[in-house]
Amino acid sequence: MKIALLNAGGDCPGLNAVIRGVVLKGDRIYEHEFVGVRDGFRGLVDDLIVPLPRQKVRGLSRVGGTILGTSRVSPFVHGGQDTTRVREILDQHEIDALIAIGGEGTLTVARMFHDDGIHVVGVPKTIDNDLSATDRTFGFDTAVSIATESIDRLRTTGEAHGRCMVVEVMGRHVGWIALHAGIASGAHAILIPEVPVTREQVCSWVQQAKDRGRAPTVVVAEGFTFAGDDQVESDRVDGFGRPLLGGIGEQVTRMVEERTGIEARNTTLGHLQRGGVPSSYDRVLATRFGTAAIDAVSNSLWGTMVALHGIDIVNVNLSDATSHLKCVPRDQWDEAAILFG
Ligand code: F6P
Repeated sequence: MKIALLNAGGDCPGLNAVIRGVVLKGDRIYEHEFVGVRDGFRGLVDDLIVPLPRQKVRGLSRVGGTILGTSRVSPFVHGGQDTTRVREILDQHEIDALIAIGGEGTLTVARMFHDDGIHVVGVPKTIDNDLSATDRTFGFDTAVSIATESIDRLRTTGEAHGRCMVVEVMGRHVGWIALHAGIASGAHAILIPEVPVTREQVCSWVQQAKDRGRAPTVVVAEGFTFAGDDQVESDRVDGFGRPLLGGIGEQVTRMVEERTGIEARNTTLGHLQRGGVPSSYDRVLATRFGTAAIDAVSNSLWGTMVALHGIDIVNVNLSDATSHLKCVPRDQWDEAAILFG
């Protein structure tokens, strides 16, 4: 079989480990031929198809970013769900199947391809960990580790100055990164989209920590809003038309300073959370996803996605994977909130 690999959407630590896992097992066990699609769905429209022999994936599992490049570009050039151009490219290169590695947007497109008869298998990817149907996505562990280390560092400078340190982390509409990095670093407040809290409550946690002689540390997810407020969204949108998030950290910082008189500083970690080498956990998960994806292709499990259930890799329907976001359950935030302030 001739198989094309594509990753689309934001990059994510572990993408290269998936590519390596797919190609090595596909070559060694099934003798498939591989090509890579450059720059996400743009490559399926602009005909950016490159050979992907096993020599190209050597030593890749520890390398961040993606050797294929990525973009947030829709493949539906004629609008709607028209796959004519995509089919043209696949036929022209005699590609039998596509492995699509991506988050919610990419896997939704993969599901539409499948509905249209294209042979596709999905691999879940996102630092946000917001995909239903899989317990974990690779990239999340690395992002949490980077955020935790950053918060630890911010804490020492905060303590030196007696300041409140606010740290804005990514996550889009869910608070997984904030929750895990916040718990790991012993934050005095963790603010996530799933649990809106009032300004008074945040100031009370900050003041309590300050009164004990601590430098208050607040971790806020980019999708958080204060109870009763509208979400802070930029007027800029990504290639899938989704508004860019960010800016809430600065708002929290100013609010704390104005209301409590405690000097405060904001740090927005941004894309640092996606950069650099993947953690060992993410390398392992990504490699397992890659080798399972090539098994799925070889067994014609079209329209499915590989997923982690407990410690096992399983196959689920793409439609289940994209039906709803996996949010932080309230009881998990409550467990952490007992230690706030
Ligand atoms: O989905 C991953 C993510 O890093 C989000 O956490 C963040 O909101 C978004 O991508 C940023 O997108 P971009 O890289 O397009 O700025």
